[in-house]
Amino acid sequence: MSRSILLVDDDRGFSSLAQAALAREGHPVVLARSLHEAREAVERAAPELVVLDRRLPDGDGLDYLPELKAQLPGTPVVMVTAHGDIQSAVDAIRAGAADYVAKPVDLTDLVMRAQRAMGEQNLRERLSRVEAELSGRRRLVPPRSAAMRQVLEMLARIATSPRSPVFLLGPTGAGKEVLARHVHTVGAGDNAPFVHVNCAALPETTVESELFGHEKGAFTDAKQARRGLVEVASGGTLFLDEVGELPLPLQAKLLTYLDSGRFRRLGSSSEESSTARVVAATNRNLELEIREGRFREDLWFRLSVFAIHVPSLRDRPEDILPLAEQILNELGQELGRKGFRLGEQGRARLQNYPFPGNVRELRNVLERALVLEPGPELTLSLLQAMREPVEGSAPPGSFVVSGDPRPLEDIEKKYVRHVLGQLGGRRVEAARVLGLSYPTFLKRLED
Ligand SMILES: Nc1ncnc2c1ncn2[C@@H]1O[C@H](COP(=O)(O)OP(=O)(O)OP(=O)(O)O)[C@@H](O)[C@H]1O
Ligand SMILES: [Mg+2]
Repeated sequence: MSRSILLVDDDRGFSSLAQAALAREGHPVVLARSLHEAREAVERAAPELVVLDRRLPDGDGLDYLPELKAQLPGTPVVMVTAHGDIQSAVDAIRAGAADYVAKPVDLTDLVMRAQRAMGEQNLRERLSRVEAELSGRRRLVPPRSAAMRQVLEMLARIATSPRSPVFLLGPTGAGKEVLARHVHTVGAGDNAPFVHVNCAALPETTVESELFGHEKGAFTDAKQARRGLVEVASGGTLFLDEVGELPLPLQAKLLTYLDSGRFRRLGSSSEESSTARVVAATNRNLELEIREGRFREDLWFRLSVFAIHVPSLRDRPEDILPLAEQILNELGQELGRKGFRLGEQGRARLQNYPFPGNVRELRNVLERALVLEPGPELTLSLLQAMREPVEGSAPPGSFVVSGDPRPLEDIEKKYVRHVLGQLGGRRVEAARVLGLSYPTFLKRLED
């Protein structure tokens, strides 16, 4: 649904014609006849666009423009200027107007400019959303809990030593990737390369050349020499997500790299070096993998020198509300649903919910509420239905679906997480048990 356009003009005849013309194109219009009325309208609801006349009964629209831009920085403004007054048009653009139309206003021209300004703003917002996602700019919320503060202190210390590896251990959705990016920003800086490798998603046949590169002719398809991700990340961070899935021979090669900073490209007889810091992460219990010979104990020891245990959200309830506030803000911007806040009931529900999917689940819960609840105060009634059975009321390992009827898709997602939990976070195995291909499985796990 498109938000309304605010038209600030005291000329009633022109206003109603413009209103009709814009409405015909599907844009609801709110009218204001003075700066005073404009301020009131903006207080009530943020418009998608403002069409602002200069000569108004209680002042000059141009003088109001800075105030308007400060209050609604993302809302484009089209100024209506006097006939032939080029200087006034220039002033308007300088003061932050997106465009201007000169009097007498041609309605077709006005509609076209209004639509263009809104379209451009829309594009800008989409672009910044994509950029934020690509660069993982989702900010780490300053934690309130002692446990998480300790984690950050430890990371800050390790960050000062540029080659020390970091090993992030913790349940799914707890924030390992967010922390990996945080170490990167604090240590190497945002301009240095951050290379995210999901070790579980790399095909076993190419994983070595992906990571360490190859020389020309190293294997049939190697028509050209290629740098591996270890080299690409030099000067920055190589984030090895799900490091437990790395094939054994690669684990040995990684260990050598960690010890010396040196490695060989596939098919090469000489050594290369890189200064990439390795940040490894896993949500699995690798001790079992070690016992069963699937993970090298020496690599485990090497990584464990700087092991960081990321606590589950349930173990740091003080962080729930600050996280919720910040995520709600971000989501509000992303989804174009601003001004929503947590009601008393919503807060209480958040504090009492166990969050088996940790911060990722918190994010999902808020996103659903933003879309489905009328607001502006969110009650998060959904959490009531999702509330897990009280411990002890169901036999261990059981999967209980309680509360109001829900879409099958929800239950499916919950079940996928349930199975993952039962298997100690072993994703590949969970995918196998569920009869899903690994990529499909990952998709089901996603937000
Ligand atoms: N401290 C935090 N501040 C802000 N957002 C957070 C924080 N921790 C987690 N999140 C958000 O929660 C979601 C999950 O976080 P992340 O991807 O880092 O989890 P993870 O531990 O890597 O999970 P998995 O083991 O499933 O890969 C993301 O959307 C992330 O932005
Ligand atoms: Mg992750």
